[in-house]
Amino acid sequence: MAESVSETRQWDRLMELARIGAIPGDGVNRQALTALDRQARRLMIAWAEEAGATVSVDDAANLWFRVEGRIPGATPLLTGSHMDSQPAGGRFDGIYGVMAGLEILCALKDSGLTLDRPLEVVAWTNEEGSRFAPGCMGSMAWAGTKPLAAFAETRDAEGIRFADALAEQLAAEADLPRRPLGGQAHAYIEAHIEQGPKLETEALDIGVVTGIQGSRWLTVTITGASAHAGTTPVSLRRDAMQATMRAIAALNTLTADPTDVLRFTVGSLTVEPGSSNSVAGMVRFTIDLRHPDAVVLAAIGDAVAATVAEAALPCVATIEERFSAAPLDFDADLVTAVREAAETLGQSWSLMPSGAFHDAQLVAGAVPSAMIFVPSRAGISHNPAEFTSAAQLAAGTRVLAAALASQSRVTN
Ligand code: GLV
Ligand code: MN
Ligand code: MN
Repeated sequence: MAESVSETRQWDRLMELARIGAIPGDGVNRQALTALDRQARRLMIAWAEEAGATVSVDDAANLWFRVEGRIPGATPLLTGSHMDSQPAGGRFDGIYGVMAGLEILCALKDSGLTLDRPLEVVAWTNEEGSRFAPGCMGSMAWAGTKPLAAFAETRDAEGIRFADALAEQLAAEADLPRRPLGGQAHAYIEAHIEQGPKLETEALDIGVVTGIQGSRWLTVTITGASAHAGTTPVSLRRDAMQATMRAIAALNTLTADPTDVLRFTVGSLTVEPGSSNSVAGMVRFTIDLRHPDAVVLAAIGDAVAATVAEAALPCVATIEERFSAAPLDFDADLVTAVREAAETLGQSWSLMPSGAFHDAQLVAGAVPSAMIFVPSRAGISHNPAEFTSAAQLAAGTRVLAAALASQSRVTN
């Protein structure tokens, strides 16, 4: 199977997909549940059908490609990732893992091999969380971490409800058979670009991912009072922007980590009324907090509310937690299987944790899971300059094929 993986077919298809939503600097803006997302999915569906897969979609608009195995009724092997991008994203984040799965379907067809188990490739809906927060909605709903209905009222920057965008997507794909949301799999292995510098720095081919650090997403709303910028004495203001700057400074102190393990990011900020000559009446900003230790993540995350409330005075601060994923260790046997697959194929490898979250972090709650990383040039990701070579991507796909094949045998 691994031998039939085609480096050029996989690369050419990735480049064709990258034209859908292309932005300057080789980037992609193809966010979840948009017309561009649907266009990319149609292309992927056509290739999957050509490879002999049956296509279906579930209520969360997760897109599924399946080929049957030799043993009737065997639980399937599962691989995949996401097809949505960041607003200024690259050509490989997410889409590579779906393409790697599709390439394996093609390799199966070309080689004439049949696995014991069915093989399913899935494109999870809205992993990035940049249009609709939080991320990983499709995998969360599939794994049962959160019901799909919990996301219904979430709105994008234009005020569009998630439930309406999802309904539009499902209507556009009404020709596809609908499958139930949720299910079983024997194992889930997700291939992804590393998005960090380790593999390139150490001149390694493959990251054998041992687990994923924990994440918390908080939204802070600071409310003051809008006022005239020319006439209102500073002493009488409740300026939400000044309060926000004090709050972020206090959070920088709270999250300062001399070991540089903790990650604290304010990546989005909204100001109302958003006018040069009005004092800000309201500022809303996001916090992305990550740490591999659940105790540290809980302690720092829980201290955010009091830290912000005190710093924001006399403005009032409220906090909403929008996403939380606990630090996770992947299934030990599956991690070993990935390592052995890399070794068998003569690839250099290293065990490593993931700093980014991935659908596998949620799927792991329902199915034994693992991940494979391929190098990212200069460690750059969530940026149009994201790059991994055709050969590096193909190497990852071959390791994925071998690791999946190693899990295919059905024993009674
Ligand atoms: C995934 O995109 C993440 O933010 O880790
Ligand atoms: Mn990703
Ligand atoms: Mn991403």
